[in-house]
Amino acid sequence: MARILLTGGAGYIGSHTFVALRDAGHQVMILDNFSNSDPDVVGRLGRLVGEDVTVIEGSVLDADLLAQVFSAEAYDGVVHFAARKAVGESVANPLDYAQTNIGGLTALMQAMKAAGVWRLVFSSTATVYGEPKVFPLTEDMPLSHTSPYAFTKVTCEHILAQAAQADPWQIGVLRYFNPVGAHPSALIGEDPRGIPDNLMPYIAKVAMGELARLTVHGNDYDTPDGTCWRDYIHVMDLARAHVLSMEALLDGRAHVVNIGTGTPVSVLEMHSAYQDVVGRDLPHVIGPRRPGDVPRLYADPARAREVLGFEADFGLSDMCQSSWDWVQAQSAGWRFNR
Ligand code: WQD
Repeated sequence: MARILLTGGAGYIGSHTFVALRDAGHQVMILDNFSNSDPDVVGRLGRLVGEDVTVIEGSVLDADLLAQVFSAEAYDGVVHFAARKAVGESVANPLDYAQTNIGGLTALMQAMKAAGVWRLVFSSTATVYGEPKVFPLTEDMPLSHTSPYAFTKVTCEHILAQAAQADPWQIGVLRYFNPVGAHPSALIGEDPRGIPDNLMPYIAKVAMGELARLTVHGNDYDTPDGTCWRDYIHVMDLARAHVLSMEALLDGRAHVVNIGTGTPVSVLEMHSAYQDVVGRDLPHVIGPRRPGDVPRLYADPARAREVLGFEADFGLSDMCQSSWDWVQAQSAGWRFNR
């Protein structure tokens, strides 16, 4: 049993990882400023783990708060989720992204160093591979950035590597491919604000009748059906990968790994799989390409299997079913039955 702090632990990936770490027998605390998460989730996490969940409300940019956090508890490790992650938003707000994502990491690491807490799992992303030409993607491939968001993640990975040369850091870097789906209880899931940028939550809102139709961003790419390939991974698999990552650090095994299934899925295949789960047609039209999209992104998952013993369990229909269950439960108002 270890004592773990989750920064951004009230968010989409963080909340699922909270449950997975608790289910694995660890003690888990959450630090979150609710800038991109709903405080309601805390009560639902409590229902899932069977006891009240306390959240330290605040920002990783607050050095005084971090000093208090690490003096109040002796943590064995930290999983750092707290960051901004919307590519389009980062283009319009590069300074905010640099401050939150890079400044937040360095503030956290300074506080951890001062407290002698050296185990850190870091949320990275497949976007650090830029516009790759060789597939599937392996961790030794060069990093580059195609957006300010990706720049912050590439920069953070360099900072982590440099810090580990200077001090006894034990670091796990998880390069997420495309997280989708929800907890089987339908009590927690992806809850984007406004109109979703990402594919599955957009389709989910079409299925709920909240959006009229899916616009497929381009069908003239170099893929079998002309629509982009992505490596979608169920958030429950991703949460479990975080447990395995932290436990590897507790065992002294640092790592940088892709977290994906290794199986590419096109936009039209995702749309079709979601239709199968909902049981009716979901309107869609073919529109123009979305600037910045790359035709293919999918992982070679071998290193995560070798280093962490991780392999994805859930397939595409599980991902779609859990998303569909979640959005229906959310709309049915579980949120008012705390
Ligand atoms: C997937 C595919 C779209 C919406 C982004 C970030 C990445 C990561 C995950 C943080 C693309 C197509 C989408 C729609 C569509 N975030 N699409 N119609 O762009 O692979 O990755 O989210 O780590 O950093 O870049 O995911 O879900 O936005 O798009 O046709 O209404 O679905 O063009 O081909 P993406 P996505």
